[in-house]
Amino acid sequence: MKKPTPYTISARMYDVISFEWPIYRAGRTAAIDLMALSKGSHVLDIGCGTGLNFALLQRQIGPTGSITGVDSSPQMLEQARRRATSAGWENVTLISADATELDSVDLGDHVPFDAAISTYALSLMAQWQIALDAMIGATRAGGVVAVVDMQKPVGRAELWTPLARLACRLGGSDIDAHPWAAMPTRLDTVQPASVRGGHIQVRVGSVPSV
Ligand SMILES: C[S@@+](CC[C@H](N)C(=O)[O-])C[C@H]1O[C@@H](n2cnc3c(N)ncnc32)[C@H](O)[C@@H]1O
Repeated sequence: MKKPTPYTISARMYDVISFEWPIYRAGRTAAIDLMALSKGSHVLDIGCGTGLNFALLQRQIGPTGSITGVDSSPQMLEQARRRATSAGWENVTLISADATELDSVDLGDHVPFDAAISTYALSLMAQWQIALDAMIGATRAGGVVAVVDMQKPVGRAELWTPLARLACRLGGSDIDAHPWAAMPTRLDTVQPASVRGGHIQVRVGSVPSV
């Protein structure tokens, strides 16, 4: 049996206890603004959780686009499913899978995707490089890949470090993983953004043609 995680135990409470509005919303907004997706884009959301990215993505892609959310927690996916159903989004597909083992997973008809995003999820995965490579591999040349994740706050915000560490520890993420740092070697024109005292790092790049 798999070990319980915060995302299997507290999925129903996640949106309430995750500091979404005061802190973490800013990262997803910055990333999705930089992605600037066209109507009709097909997007892969890795570690999609309860689907907090979906409404922001839907505004850009519209009903002719699609979102394919992948998460290893069926409980988080159940919340994402409820969100999609209550909003009437028929263009959302949810897949229960480990993002570090996507080679053997059927991601559906929209592969290669026009874009892939992962927010606050890669730093939870010991083998995040594999998941990042899978995101890039599933996105078409010229498509967009976005990563939002956490680090210790910097500058004057450094004094919030104990709180940031606690938030990461409670969520099971490694505050020192810095998965975005691997993006410039794998992607073209990586645009950076940094919010909430540097605690939230955003990178959006495009997939090179081979
Ligand atoms: C902090 S939550 C972030 C959820 C969502 N992306 C957001 O921005 O709110 C991290 C999510 O990553 C998922 N996750 C962790 N390890 C994973 C893995 N190896 N494969 C797929 N999902 C994973 C967890 O189940 C959880 O839903």
